[in-house]
Amino acid sequence: MGRSAIVLAAGHGTRMKSKKHKVLHEVCGKPMILHILDEIQPLLLDQVIVVTGQQREAVESVIGERAEIAVQNEQKGTGHAVQAALPKLLPDTDSVLVLYGDAPLIRTETMEALFAAREQRRAAAVVLTADVDDPSGLGRVFEGLDGAIERVVEEKDATPEERAVRRINTGIYAFARADLEESLTKVRPTNTQAEYYLTDTIAIMRASGRPVYGVAAADAQEVLSVNDRIQLARVERAMQMRICEHWMREGVTIIDPMHVTIGVDVTIGRDSLILPGTVLEGGTEIGEGCVIGPNTRLTNMRVSFGAEVETSVARDSSIGEHTHVGPFAYIRPGSNIGANVKVGDFVEVKNSTLGDRTKVSHLAYVGDADVGSDVNIGCGVITVNYDGKRKHRTVIGDGTFVGSNVNLIAPLDVGADAYLCAGSTITEDVPADGFAIARNRQVTKPDYVKNWRARREEDSDPAPNERKGP
Ligand code: UD1
Ligand code: CA
Repeated sequence: MGRSAIVLAAGHGTRMKSKKHKVLHEVCGKPMILHILDEIQPLLLDQVIVVTGQQREAVESVIGERAEIAVQNEQKGTGHAVQAALPKLLPDTDSVLVLYGDAPLIRTETMEALFAAREQRRAAAVVLTADVDDPSGLGRVFEGLDGAIERVVEEKDATPEERAVRRINTGIYAFARADLEESLTKVRPTNTQAEYYLTDTIAIMRASGRPVYGVAAADAQEVLSVNDRIQLARVERAMQMRICEHWMREGVTIIDPMHVTIGVDVTIGRDSLILPGTVLEGGTEIGEGCVIGPNTRLTNMRVSFGAEVETSVARDSSIGEHTHVGPFAYIRPGSNIGANVKVGDFVEVKNSTLGDRTKVSHLAYVGDADVGSDVNIGCGVITVNYDGKRKHRTVIGDGTFVGSNVNLIAPLDVGADAYLCAGSTITEDVPADGFAIARNRQVTKPDYVKNWRARREEDSDPAPNERKGP
């Protein structure tokens, strides 16, 4: 009793009006076709075959080793596409699941139920159906008095009465291999689109007295498919809701699930709070008790227990326990921010380490730097890391105080517990416990302004701005 799956992904996807193949469009950060392959995976099928054609190199490179490929050189319809995969089926396969690559919400359990229904009822085919409010564009399903499916009619070929039917073909089927092979040879392209419809196999099977049953989808959302960008947004929302509900069940508070975006591979710890406008992407991992958002985008970030990230953008970096980031901070790749750190407003950190309890409270640029623990980076501090050709590193030891508006000209090594005076441009290394000041000495002239004002009033001709020379 071998089981296999065929996923169709050769078509144009014309209605997307895109240079990118339809099945490669992402839903919650992952190409549609991979969502489907991920859900197929736990079924441990003997074989998974994806039918490719249009832009096959791009589609196949995303699929990689995860499925076998069958090529449909010309796109002559869904029936024709399945035929392209049949020669690849293993000899002992007798149940074949067929899915379309543009319906990424389908779940493992539903696929398992279709296989089981087909096998138990010894049906030629079992079709997953759904009753929907708006069936436009979809194939309509017609059942006989015994509840068996008689035929599927495509919208473009349907009469007005047939179009009024709201029971639709989801495009997900379990077939008996022999019936599938035999009926496909009889499909003819005698329809408005001049295509070989897979859906025509149903009436052909019925004509040879073979039973075909429908199974109603438990959740109409699960069978949503994507033909255009409006449907893409609908599918994105549906999957987003599924992801949010999963994390809410796991103990995460999401204030407004309609206004967050959480990728499929993101993880979030208990008692974390996700505020509106938050986008969590890639392999981002949020620990327990964190507060993220509002209006925050985290990509491939690791955020530890109790940290807060407010109105900020951060990627490919880590943030330690109880650290506070933002508002308006920008953390760029390769940054490793310790525990109990403060990265405040208008601070940019790039490819740098910040030790525990270090503070960069406002308006600073820390790039290519290794900053120790308990360091204070004052307002306006800049690591001058780029000489126009190459990047250089700045090292700052534990406990050092960097005053406001200090320029650190890298490469630079500042030892522990040093003190760099505000407004200094530091070009030379400073040893541990050292003090450095590098700025012009102040000149103060008492009464200078008062005298100047008095002069200006007496000397009315010419006006000061018309004077020639100093
Ligand atoms: C299809 C069904 C329709 C069903 C709907 C559900 C047929 C004839 N119609 O219509 O009954 O309600 O799905 O979403 O099957 N493809 C190929 N090669 C081809 C043509 C298509 O691989 O020659 C692939 C496409 O890439 C796509 C899938 O098959 O992934 C479905 O094709 P699409 O054109 O989207 O079919 P629908 O018109 O949506
Ligand atoms: Ca479709």
